[in-house]
Amino acid sequence: MPYVFDAYGTLFDFNAAVARHRAAAGPDADRFSELWRQKQIEYTWTHTLAGRYLEFWTLTERALDYCFERFPSVDRKLRGDLLDAYLKLDAFPDARKVLDELRRRGERTAILTNGSPAMVGAAVEAAGLKGGLDAVLSVDAVKMFKPRPEVYALVTSEFSCKPAEVVFASSNRWDAMGATAFGFRTVWINRARAPDEYPDFPPAAVVSDLTGLLAVKG
Ligand code: LAC
Repeated sequence: MPYVFDAYGTLFDFNAAVARHRAAAGPDADRFSELWRQKQIEYTWTHTLAGRYLEFWTLTERALDYCFERFPSVDRKLRGDLLDAYLKLDAFPDARKVLDELRRRGERTAILTNGSPAMVGAAVEAAGLKGGLDAVLSVDAVKMFKPRPEVYALVTSEFSCKPAEVVFASSNRWDAMGATAFGFRTVWINRARAPDEYPDFPPAAVVSDLTGLLAVKG
């Protein structure tokens, strides 16, 4: 049974980019990082609803530029460094261990991400996760973003399987909603202990970190 992971926020810590430049970013660093992510994801929804796809990398740049406008205290000279850091984000400490353990058990593993292929490829390489993955699937193949069902269907095509045979792990509750609606067995990695949402689309399991996934029955 394939185990499929969301990338940003689930395997990779998107706050690591700003965290690496925290001292230079100044007192608004955390709010800046939070808004960067919020705008990046908002743009995926608005562009998909409008039927106007742009690569996730472009939306990531535009979200960052919005944040520089919104927080003048953060020096624009950091733009290049922050984007560069986004290509080399830290993986969460349990990511490699969990991928390796799943493969040791004979399971197949993959990423399904909004990230454009070059962007996610760079992150996978930099974090040393390449050897733990059978496939890296990007929404770029269908030119629309999560939670469109066409995106989740990339997984069932790749593995020639039914949705119910897929275990899908995401730290984004809205992504878990889309995956559950598609028919995946969804595990919500609720690191932030956020309140639940989307009561009509409950995940099969909720765990507090990736290692919790190993205890979920496939
Ligand atoms: C991704 C975003 C949702 O990797 O984090 O698809």
